[in-house]
Amino acid sequence: MNLQEIDEINKRNIKSSNQFYDLMNKRRTIRRFTSQEVSLEVINQCIKTAGTAPSGANKQPWYFAVIKNSLIKKQIKDAAEKEEFEFYNGKNNDQWLKDLKCLDTNWQKPHLKEASALIVIFSKSHEDEKKSKKCYYSKESVGIATGILITALHQLGISTLTHTPNPMNFLNILLKRPSNEKPFLILAVGYRDYKYKLPDLKRKSLDEICKIY
Ligand SMILES: Cc1cc2nc3c(=O)[nH]c(=O)nc-3n(C[C@H](O)[C@H](O)[C@H](O)COP(=O)(O)O)c2cc1C
Repeated sequence: MNLQEIDEINKRNIKSSNQFYDLMNKRRTIRRFTSQEVSLEVINQCIKTAGTAPSGANKQPWYFAVIKNSLIKKQIKDAAEKEEFEFYNGKNNDQWLKDLKCLDTNWQKPHLKEASALIVIFSKSHEDEKKSKKCYYSKESVGIATGILITALHQLGISTLTHTPNPMNFLNILLKRPSNEKPFLILAVGYRDYKYKLPDLKRKSLDEICKIY
């Protein structure tokens, strides 16, 4: 490849990366959804895309439970709200609650029932329930896969809410998942209800998050 060709590729990539930034900069956490359904085929394909993530020793330590059933959604909402109520009324969470104030959130989680689907993402500590084969860097790997999933949905105009009730052990029981899987987070998936007012948040600048050495 000659210098002129390399220069052209770089120019094209700069343009593409700017366009991709503009697209991703529009992603926001959405806390209210419309009743419009997201097709299962689309969700499955986005999960397949998430499954392309790199993982420690290629263990692919993720599992995605997709909930469309209204009754199960309600059970998750009720259990999550119970935990959230305790958190929001807890004594030792003052600083955390202060940090959350700008988001205008509270213990109520209507989106868990409104969302077209809930994707409960599990992280595997071991490959099997007997726990004989370990997975490595599971949290890191599942975090990367989740990022890809959010990106895959966002580029289709589908919104998400990352929800992390704590602890989330009820999800193993409710979804009958084995003990080598730990709930990582719940992703509520749907189309944005434009009546939802987004909190006014600022993203850090490149200088604040990056230094070239
Ligand atoms: C690991 C993680 C957990 C989160 N948990 C919650 C949650 O339980 N409830 C909620 O309303 N938002 C939750 N969020 C969303 C964040 O509040 C949101 O990403 C952040 O305020 C930035 O806003 P943006 O996503 O619109 O850019 C979570 C995000 C992450 C990455």
